[in-house]
Amino acid sequence: MSDSFDLVIIGTGPGGYRAAARAAQLGMRVACVDKNELGGTCLNVGCIPSKALLESSELYHRTSAGLEKHGIQVGAVGLDLSAMMGRKDKIVDTMVKGIGSLFRQHKVEYVVGTAHISAPGSVEVTSAAGSRSLQAARILLATGSAPVELKSLPFDGRYIISSTEALALSTVPERMVVIGAGAIGLEMGSVWSRLGTDVLVVEYMDHILPGMDQEMTMQLQRLLKRQGLVFELGASARSAEIENDRVQLKIAVGDDERIEACDCVLVAVGRRPCVEGLGGEELGLELDDRGRVQVDGDFQTSVKGIYAIGDVIPGPMLAHKAEEEGVAAVERMAGVAGHVNYDAIPNVVYTHPELAAVGLSEEEAGEQGREIKVGKYQFRANARAHSMDAIDGLVKILSDARSDRLLGVHILGVQASHLIAEGAVAMEFAASAEDLARSVHAHPTLSETIKEAAWAVE
Ligand code: FAD
Ligand code: NAI
Repeated sequence: MSDSFDLVIIGTGPGGYRAAARAAQLGMRVACVDKNELGGTCLNVGCIPSKALLESSELYHRTSAGLEKHGIQVGAVGLDLSAMMGRKDKIVDTMVKGIGSLFRQHKVEYVVGTAHISAPGSVEVTSAAGSRSLQAARILLATGSAPVELKSLPFDGRYIISSTEALALSTVPERMVVIGAGAIGLEMGSVWSRLGTDVLVVEYMDHILPGMDQEMTMQLQRLLKRQGLVFELGASARSAEIENDRVQLKIAVGDDERIEACDCVLVAVGRRPCVEGLGGEELGLELDDRGRVQVDGDFQTSVKGIYAIGDVIPGPMLAHKAEEEGVAAVERMAGVAGHVNYDAIPNVVYTHPELAAVGLSEEEAGEQGREIKVGKYQFRANARAHSMDAIDGLVKILSDARSDRLLGVHILGVQASHLIAEGAVAMEFAASAEDLARSVHAHPTLSETIKEAAWAVE
């Protein structure tokens, strides 16, 4: 088999596999290299397993307490954690196999092993089976990211864990401390809290989910507290000692220090781009101050012929952002006008209720000196939300004070992850708040909360 390709992609996560399929559609001969399972972080240890556990744990929680209101009586509800984990693993396996089929369908060659770029146009792949040299006019880095380790709390896989281990615990911990109130901390904290763990979330900032609209995050925090999560804001972890199979975690809150005993500490303080071992330093690959690969408008790095997309370059670390960049990058290689609209990338935190946003937060609009109008609508005023027993939350819409063009859509509520698509499409088409308000929405649906919030802008 020839080892010469039009494009070699390193990484088969959402960025890599979408880029591979699109490049093949555009007529390129493509190889895609990965040292791990197909599907990257997203399919194996990220989006998919976390959403499977969020779904199962929410169902468990609702069945345990919440069905009586519907007039449904259930007996004692039991937890079979290994079956829950088995279901999650099966979903991951199915999705991973799906990527295998996608590659076969598009005649993308999947090469297993660790890639190293020996020179522009040359990728050496090493695996237990030996090594192989791939040649290509273009190389696309889609190597993704890995959890950030805190120097004072190095990962040991058992007591001090990352999201990867938190997705596969074999018993329900009695107590867990989560460091970081970002998406991972809140999603995994919710999973284990619903299954019975006493969860303390320690966050460095004075609010959760920095970067999202603070009015919305404050409401979410209030709802999560009601579910039993405990928050220590403006706090940080100092050190940990293991005594009698328990972690003695020292945390600092202001000037005070105290010990929190727990079974494990989930460190979820962000992710770092994966560039080590790729050969970038030798080639002169430029990185920014956070170690992310610098690219131009065509996703080309500082080295001609080497491109990069996804978590390894700047921007939000999201699967759909990686996918869009993968498609745009290969389209531009093929002379097609690929484009990513960074102003309309939705961001969802899959707690209960979910928090979803697209566009600017009120704080960001303020920082940019924009004059805005704001419209809000509470879920408790929506009939469908009542029928679903899901009245917590609100929709908040920001539009430009003069033109009424949508600037941001924020939804805290059940199924916000699905509802936000309307906001993303509206922003993509440069709609005004009035356009949303005057679009007919089916009744009774949760989507009417968006229409009503849009009316409230005026
Ligand atoms: P990745 O998916 O990280 O894939 C990179 C691939 O490159 C890996 O398979 C790796 O093995 C391979 N690789 C790296 N170096 C080499 C090398 N030298 N040789 C060969 N192969 C190499 N995002 C969302 O949008 N929604 C979510 O709900 C969501 N949930 C998440 C939950 C968790 C717990 C985590 C950790 C992340 C979550 N994310 C979510 C983020 C999402 O997973 C990432 O943004 C996404 O996977 C990035 O895609 P990527 O293609 O850039 O890289
Ligand atoms: P994050 O960057 O979202 O949040 C990290 C949090 O930790 C921040 O609130 C930060 O202030 C805090 N922090 C940092 N250092 C700290 C310290 N020393 N002590 C206490 N708090 C500290 O990172 P997270 O949650 O690890 O997620 C990583 C990436 O994965 C994110 O960029 C996110 O986009 C992606 N992801 C997306 C999901 C989704 O789309 N639903 C789900 C999970 C992850």
